[in-house]
Amino acid sequence: MSKLTAGQLAVNCRGLTKQYGQGENAVQALRGIDLEVRTGEMTYLVGPSGCGKTTLISVIAGTLDRSGGACEVFGDDVASWGERKRAAWRGRNVGFVFQALNLVPTLTAAENVAIPLMILGEGHDKAVRRAGEMLERVDLGARARSLPAQLSGGQQQRVAIARALVHDPRLVVCDEPTSALDHDTGHRVMELLRSVASSAERALIVVTHDARIFSLADRIAHMDDGRVERVESTPSSR
Ligand SMILES: Nc1ncnc2c1ncn2[C@@H]1O[C@H](COP(=O)(O)OP(=O)(O)OP(=O)(O)O)[C@@H](O)[C@H]1O
Ligand SMILES: [Mg+2]
Repeated sequence: MSKLTAGQLAVNCRGLTKQYGQGENAVQALRGIDLEVRTGEMTYLVGPSGCGKTTLISVIAGTLDRSGGACEVFGDDVASWGERKRAAWRGRNVGFVFQALNLVPTLTAAENVAIPLMILGEGHDKAVRRAGEMLERVDLGARARSLPAQLSGGQQQRVAIARALVHDPRLVVCDEPTSALDHDTGHRVMELLRSVASSAERALIVVTHDARIFSLADRIAHMDDGRVERVESTPSSR
């Protein structure tokens, strides 16, 4: 893979579909998604509850199979690969902040952040040390030994963000990173995400309902009922 410069195509979805279940219980979650996401930009995915946002980013991130259409990530049709190759690709290239955070309650903040590094083969001590450095970048260096339950909602969110970035992935996908946060904390988390994650070689997709942070996006993709209806460039991208 050649070196990327800002503005290159990171994600290219064409006619992407996803159906959950079969027959009477079938749900058409994605009904032909066309979407381009470029490197060096922060792209928001917005739309009403149930319109398919989490489904879309899960297919893009390679954690969920599509039903039809195409989705290339950095030029690769990841979904066409076997699960082993896909998992290895994901471990190296994707950072995911889940809607439900998914922090492991019995591990400290630093150990949670170290997980992606250990999956990539880093030893425990070195991984936890690097995780501690990452926590410092999200202003949580002093809480590295705390368990998730000992942290506030905003602090837990920052741990989840640190975990998504610690292995320097090319694609960062965040599902509602500010939903549990008050306005100021939400803004700080997004500024942080933007500063830590924005790089000419990296693409950042953020799912959000939160109109208060729209001004931070470069592009906003509006979804409804399984489709991307329009993509808006915001003043910050010009
Ligand atoms: N595992 C599943 N099995 C069946 N249907 C599902 C499943 N996951 C999601 N759906 C359905 O697919 C549609 C899209 O769901 P999705 O979670 O992608 O929406 P969303 O835009 O992320 O919503 P929210 O803003 O509430 O998180 C919904 O109708 C939902 O009920
Ligand atoms: Mg969702």
